[in-house]
Amino acid sequence: MQRREFLRLSSLALAGGSLLARGPLALADALSGKGPASPAKALADEFPKGFLWGSATGAYQVEGAWNVDGRGESIWDRFAHTPGKIKNGDNGDVACDSYHRYREDIAIAARLGMKSHRYSIAWPRIQPAGKGAANAKGLDYYKRVTDTLLEAGIRPFPTLYHWDLPQPLEDAGGWPNRDTAERFADYAKIVIDALGDRIRQWCIFNEPKTFTHCGYWQGNHAPGRTDPLAFLRATHTVNLAQGMAFRAIKAIDAKLEVGGVYDTQPTYPATHSEADKLAAQRWYKFINLWFLEPALKGRYPAGVLTPERQTDLLGWRDGDEATVRAALDFVGINYYSSWIVADAPNGNGVPGLNTKADWATNYPPHHRTDNGWDIYPKGFYDILTDMAEYTGHLPIEITENGAAYNTAPGADGHVHDVARIAWVRAHLLELSRAIRDGVPVRAYHHWSLLDNFEWADGYTQRFGLVYVDFATQQRTLKDSAHWYAKVIGANGVSTDETNARLESALR
Ligand code: FCB
Repeated sequence: MQRREFLRLSSLALAGGSLLARGPLALADALSGKGPASPAKALADEFPKGFLWGSATGAYQVEGAWNVDGRGESIWDRFAHTPGKIKNGDNGDVACDSYHRYREDIAIAARLGMKSHRYSIAWPRIQPAGKGAANAKGLDYYKRVTDTLLEAGIRPFPTLYHWDLPQPLEDAGGWPNRDTAERFADYAKIVIDALGDRIRQWCIFNEPKTFTHCGYWQGNHAPGRTDPLAFLRATHTVNLAQGMAFRAIKAIDAKLEVGGVYDTQPTYPATHSEADKLAAQRWYKFINLWFLEPALKGRYPAGVLTPERQTDLLGWRDGDEATVRAALDFVGINYYSSWIVADAPNGNGVPGLNTKADWATNYPPHHRTDNGWDIYPKGFYDILTDMAEYTGHLPIEITENGAAYNTAPGADGHVHDVARIAWVRAHLLELSRAIRDGVPVRAYHHWSLLDNFEWADGYTQRFGLVYVDFATQQRTLKDSAHWYAKVIGANGVSTDETNARLESALR
């Protein structure tokens, strides 16, 4: 089949559901490598006034100091200390040493003009065993970080959970154990009691899909389990915890704004067969709505799990429809790439799901970042417009978007990461187009401020605007950092610059 015809059919395949409707030509253009389907002229002031430009990090990925000041062991410490789990045997023991160098890092963010900084609170610093009294030194650290951000004029924007479950809670069953939801709500209360006076906007979970999926089903993330049924239970406990934490925070101060951070991706069928089209729709709901629909509607998306088994598979109990609800004040969206999905009639371990999904799509033209993720800026526009259709008036914050490019310092000592500039620019143009088309986005946080510990890839993948020499902890602003500072200054992406060099860098 001609590729164009294939793409047309793939796209039309999804046009039945409003959530999934896609335009065939735009998809073909994006995949043909012509760059994003951007408007002819995008102005430098194309982002809304007051738009919050920012950066993002996660505690385990940057802090280090894994056993300092009373911090307990997390599942990531245990996983990374287990031989064979992380590339090169890397771990987060030191990472970027931001536990000690946070002032320097925040000064860099301020110098670049950031208006908002997303970071996460490490549960094992606050409750070393996952329950019981708070560790004052842990809370003090986040007070210092928060106050330093405020002094720098940067909005502090923390996430309560970026994957570092206290190991004792995993030993007691982890996320598949319902009790973990109560532990999490207790932890949320402790944190908000201590910091709710100076932080007005809170994210509950970072990417609940990823940490349950990779941690309990795929096994490539901590705690490294490979049990699809435990995974399903984990998803339900996380939904219970999301609702319970939401109410715990609001009970302390109803004016605090509370949201979640979801990894979202468009899904496309692998072929034009009816079976693959339906598989792509199942995967879409599973990937994008599994933690939103319970919060907003008190139920799971229909047509994913085998209906007569769903209650049992999730461990759903009467009353859970109220517990999982959380009337979120905003929705955080992370976007990196898109899925190609095929039907898997023999099953994939999750009863009813029956999909085979690939992120590295294997479709021409094979434009990928250094960690092998397909480059697909148009998918950013697609998922934003889809999600906005679902979440309606709720403000959206882009909580992560970025790329792995491992450009090293050149002979001149500078890091000429032109490919990252091209990648981010292409995605910002799609974001701007989505905003112009009515998607209520109020913030963009680049992943990441610093090169850091990239989970199972260890230190082999560099997502930072700032180069970190992990031997010396020296920070060097990359060309992309200077470029991003200009975007922030102009409140938009200039299309006047000569882009041939940038566009070819994406190929
Ligand atoms: C996201 C994670 C983040 C980082 C980026 C590259 O899934 O939330 O911590 O690893 O991917």
